[in-house]
Amino acid sequence: MYPDRRGVLGRGIHEIDTPALIIDYRQLRENIARMADYFRPLPADLRPHAKTHKCPQVAALQVAAGALGVTCAKLGEAEAMATAGIESILIANQLVGERTTDRLARLVRYTGAQVMPAVDAPDRVAELERAAIRWDVTLPAVVEVDIGLRRGGARSPGAALQLVRSLSSSDHLTFEGLIAYEGHALREKDLHARAEVVTRSMERFMEAVTYVEEAGIEVPIVSAGSTGTYTVTGNYPGLTEVEAGSYVFMDANYLATVEGFPPALHLLTTVTTRHEEGLLVTDMGLKTASVDQVPPIITDPVGITIAHLSEEHSQLLLESEEAKQLRVGDRLKAIVGHCCTTVNLHDRYYVCEDGVVVDVWPITGRGRSQ
Ligand SMILES: Cc1ncc(COP(=O)(O)O)c(C=O)c1O
Repeated sequence: MYPDRRGVLGRGIHEIDTPALIIDYRQLRENIARMADYFRPLPADLRPHAKTHKCPQVAALQVAAGALGVTCAKLGEAEAMATAGIESILIANQLVGERTTDRLARLVRYTGAQVMPAVDAPDRVAELERAAIRWDVTLPAVVEVDIGLRRGGARSPGAALQLVRSLSSSDHLTFEGLIAYEGHALREKDLHARAEVVTRSMERFMEAVTYVEEAGIEVPIVSAGSTGTYTVTGNYPGLTEVEAGSYVFMDANYLATVEGFPPALHLLTTVTTRHEEGLLVTDMGLKTASVDQVPPIITDPVGITIAHLSEEHSQLLLESEEAKQLRVGDRLKAIVGHCCTTVNLHDRYYVCEDGVVVDVWPITGRGRSQ
């Protein structure tokens, strides 16, 4: 349960094996509190996306700060959360096939957690219902609506209503609400343009909500949102839940557009080779740092740029005098490029206060993409 705690608790971060993910415990709690404070006066609540941290200890802090539970992207993540005691979980994705829906029903039966997958086609409803019957449980579910991303989701209010009706009329399933995701708005780097796309997407979402309500069916959950859109989505009338995830750690990608959440997660890396004047090599590479959005940014010391990342090496160019003093064995800290995909490359977090390791948390949802 607690990998590699022995020998590191109470030690300085320079004693940790690297590459390693370091959580700044104080900043983590501040980020969690700040987002919780933002939602406290609003009609909408927060159900943070656990795909960012994949760690029940972080989820527990979010729930303790007032979150409704968590959102997950995959059943495997939901299993990691439910078996660790998180009681209410939205899976913002479709579950396909008998084996997968059986796992869901088994999870609900044996943990008693409320685990709500999305459906976006009649076959998904039928599969869920068959699993509910096989495992003698009632399965809650939400209907996903596409609002412009063209990923998951029913493609029209009429198609959504059909799915809502079949969930509501089932003896083995319950209709819990509608979900959508305005992820395409994040492609807009200009914040005014982004807000416009979010508003248009929410208008589309509310058309579907109204369509279902006008058919006489209550819609308890109306969920959407992200770290890059929560200020618009979270205030949109009719929305009940926001799924922001990355705010908890932050990353180089989001730092360019989202204010108020300093990084609580860093990648620690060690200098492994130093021969030339302006160049050194560390143990951070593509197997420990994702580059799908932007590369990591080395912040400590400053004055270093990444020239190249290979699987297990980074070649770094040294610009500042401080950086030029670095020697083999020295440690560097980087803000990760994309926190969600970087986390998925690691087994554990080293939780630190004032540079000292106070805990080690396993990333139990890591790799749980099935
Ligand atoms: C369904 C869904 N909801 C919410 C989010 C928002 O997450 P974040 O706040 O990390 O951008 C995502 C991100 O991919 C998502 O896929």
